Amino acid sequence: MLNAVYKLNNHLSSSFYIGMLLAILSSDNKKGVNKMKNYAVMHMPKMINYGRYAFKEVGKVGAELGGRALIISDEMMDELGNVNAVQGYLSEENIDSSVYLGVESEPTDIYVAEALEKFKKEQCNMVISIGGGSCIDTAKAVAVLASNGGYIGDYMGGKKIANKEPVPHIAIPTTAGTGSEATDATIITNTSNEVKMMIKQPAFMPVVAIVDPMLSLSSPKHVTAATGVDALSHAIESYISKRSHPMTDTMGLSAMKLITENISTAYREGDNLDAREAMSLGSLQAGIAFSNSSVCLVHGMSRPIGALFHVPHGYSNAMLLPAVLEFSMDSTIERLADLGRIFYPEAKSYSDDKAASTAVQAVKQLCADLNIPNLQSWGIDEQKFITARGKMANDALASGSPANSPRVPTQSEIERLYQTCYTYDFSLKSKVR
Ligand SMILES: NC(=O)c1ccc[n+]([C@@H]2O[C@H](COP(=O)([O-])OP(=O)(O)OC[C@H]3O[C@@H](n4cnc5c(N)ncnc54)[C@H](O)[C@@H]3O)[C@@H](O)[C@H]2O)c1
Ligand SMILES: [Fe+2]
Repeated sequence: MLNAVYKLNNHLSSSFYIGMLLAILSSDNKKGVNKMKNYAVMHMPKMINYGRYAFKEVGKVGAELGGRALIISDEMMDELGNVNAVQGYLSEENIDSSVYLGVESEPTDIYVAEALEKFKKEQCNMVISIGGGSCIDTAKAVAVLASNGGYIGDYMGGKKIANKEPVPHIAIPTTAGTGSEATDATIITNTSNEVKMMIKQPAFMPVVAIVDPMLSLSSPKHVTAATGVDALSHAIESYISKRSHPMTDTMGLSAMKLITENISTAYREGDNLDAREAMSLGSLQAGIAFSNSSVCLVHGMSRPIGALFHVPHGYSNAMLLPAVLEFSMDSTIERLADLGRIFYPEAKSYSDDKAASTAVQAVKQLCADLNIPNLQSWGIDEQKFITARGKMANDALASGSPANSPRVPTQSEIERLYQTCYTYDFSLKSKVR
């Protein structure tokens, strides 16, 4: 795939998002909890430029979409020279740009308001995000608000629908990752009630994603670990979700394979471009998978931890993933067995029960290898955590994600799971079934 730039240009819809109507005639090959669906709609960016050096295309792509760009990024991207590089590629095509660098991890409604103000003041007509999911999510909100107006929280739960075309958004991820470059969701913290809002509507989909693994080479070890487990969580949750369907299964399975085979190498050898490339591709596929299926209990429980205790998203997922899989296992044995056989091809000869246990143990081992801490060793005060458990469980359920899980938990089961995860020991062997 060296030097290749893959352009997947879907012209199957005349609307501002790309829809793909799939006739899925049979569900005989479906496994586990998933019910038959006779059709599904796939949303993804209108164009995905993927491959080493795809980033250099940003000027040409930008020239097709607008005249003046607001680049939404953060201080780290600026230090690395990535923001300057975007401006350079744009100016080669005579595109002017302004820059907003105020994004910090786990973006809030304040960054969105600031960036939107700059967008208007500088009379921009497109946005380009470069960075991790935090920069991309901020830019998604700006792109929608610039044409549809209102406060970003208005769009949560479909209270307000963005029915005007958003301004064009080119998303360039530097982590592998959230997959946000190919999802129609944005996650923004409401600073007035400390809720990490999960807002999902077709208008939030970037029009172009430029996924260049070269940009992830500079990602430090802890970011590689956290964002890599986030991508794995997306792939797994999309696959065990009640809303999965054959198209998302294809993406989810491929993503699980790419990520499980490459995450440890990308973590240990940050300059291994083959591993980085596989992780970028896996993260992109996992994003497409969960955006068109769903995430489940891990993400539902993870967002409140991010909102209240400011744990980065990848870590808060990783702290929950093995325990939540253990909790869910009996309701999704066949699907977790598939994951076990991806981790260990020799598990092909195992019973489904044993292969599913193998999957949970493999995820645990992976988290231990990537030095994922539990909530206690992250430094969260136990008393504060106990006090927050009720609100967190409530917010998790209200987000809707747990309802997509193969085993739908009650409020008190979620509270108990939070407690389990507080002192979770990733090095302990799971029960052999
Ligand atoms: N919209 C979606 O579909 C979706 C999906 C999953 C997560 N999210 C959201 O994305 C956010 C997290 O994004 P993230 O995990 O990508 O992390 P991030 O964007 O918060 O970045 C984490 C840190 O890594 C740095 N960084 C990023 N790329 C780097 C690189 N190549 N080299 C050096 N440093 C680099 C950033 O500057 C930042 O300091 C959360 O708010 C989460 O809720 C959104
Ligand atoms: Fe995520």
